[in-house]
Amino acid sequence: MTTNRPFQILMLPGDGIGPEVMAQVRRVMAALSHLRFEITEDLVGGAAIEAHGIPLSQETLAQAMAADAVLFGAVGGPQFDTLPFESKPERGLLSLRKNMELFANLRPALCFAPLAGASTLKREVIEGLDILIVRELTGGVYFGEPRGIIPLPGGKRRGVNTHSYTTDEIHRVARVAFELAGKRQGRVCSAEKSNVMEAGLLWREEVRALHAAEFPDIELTHMLADNMAMQLVRRPKQFDVILTDNLFGDILSDEAAMLTGSLGMLPSASLGARLPDGRIPALYEPIHGSAPDIAGQNKANPIAAILSFAMCLRYSFSLEADAARVERAVERALAQGLRTGDIAEPGAAVVSTTQMGDAIVAALS
Ligand code: IPM
Ligand code: MG
Repeated sequence: MTTNRPFQILMLPGDGIGPEVMAQVRRVMAALSHLRFEITEDLVGGAAIEAHGIPLSQETLAQAMAADAVLFGAVGGPQFDTLPFESKPERGLLSLRKNMELFANLRPALCFAPLAGASTLKREVIEGLDILIVRELTGGVYFGEPRGIIPLPGGKRRGVNTHSYTTDEIHRVARVAFELAGKRQGRVCSAEKSNVMEAGLLWREEVRALHAAEFPDIELTHMLADNMAMQLVRRPKQFDVILTDNLFGDILSDEAAMLTGSLGMLPSASLGARLPDGRIPALYEPIHGSAPDIAGQNKANPIAAILSFAMCLRYSFSLEADAARVERAVERALAQGLRTGDIAEPGAAVVSTTQMGDAIVAALS
């Protein structure tokens, strides 16, 4: 990607704490004054439902497809709980993932040294932790057909979802995991439930086949997903890259987030396959969600959103030095002792979203 045209960014702050944390991302973008960003902002999730009656409009989707990268905040809120399933705010995010074919979701769980005491786990268990979860994002039970709630006689009902994966779906996400492992410690652990699910057995066999054919130099191990959930809290540093499906990836990444101290710390990148014009469809989002309980109170931790932007610099624009600079600025703010509520140890002083943003922007310059 050349830098002689501005990077086209679509910002979708969404609901809850989304707009607050994305406002801090904008400040970080502005502080990188040697880079030119052309930012368009639009609605998604509950905000789009309130404006247009649907969680993602065709126009917004078209803009997302045309952008170099989408920066996403969060969607959802209790006021939308009673909406029919197909019109919930979450659908906005899921249709972006599906339509942009963002099949590879990268969720790094990194323990920043100043936060080693903020985890609910013992310091020695998580100090130096550096895991990368590669979650399949456009298949599995999230999208499988048939699905639905089917009426049964006597007013009873049956809920159906389908967990399904094909060889190609498994190979393309596994390839991403192996390639990224090659740039790290060279180890992939693949998680499924091959003991009870055919789709899990296929997952294991296809990952093994791809490994043998294309990545013999990477170390590959397999683990049942329930065992991995246990191992993640028992001895998380045994993992380098974790490869897993959509649903297990959703669950295991929330668990991994807590190893780092808080959900408020975990960024993510969702990537597709390279397009003929050279762009890679990409969406970056903090994994924490909309946190309606603290929305609008200037309490949210903006770090996951800011680290997601750092991932955007790295993966969409190949600006490794700038990505590292943003990450160092976050580390510096933490080293100065700044803590939002979610990462504060008992009795510690708590700063606001904007104060955390101030410190990170200051550390950048
Ligand atoms: C995530 C979230 C989403 C998911 C929701 C908001 C649809 O939990 O990105 O992990 O389940 O994938
Ligand atoms: Mg989740």
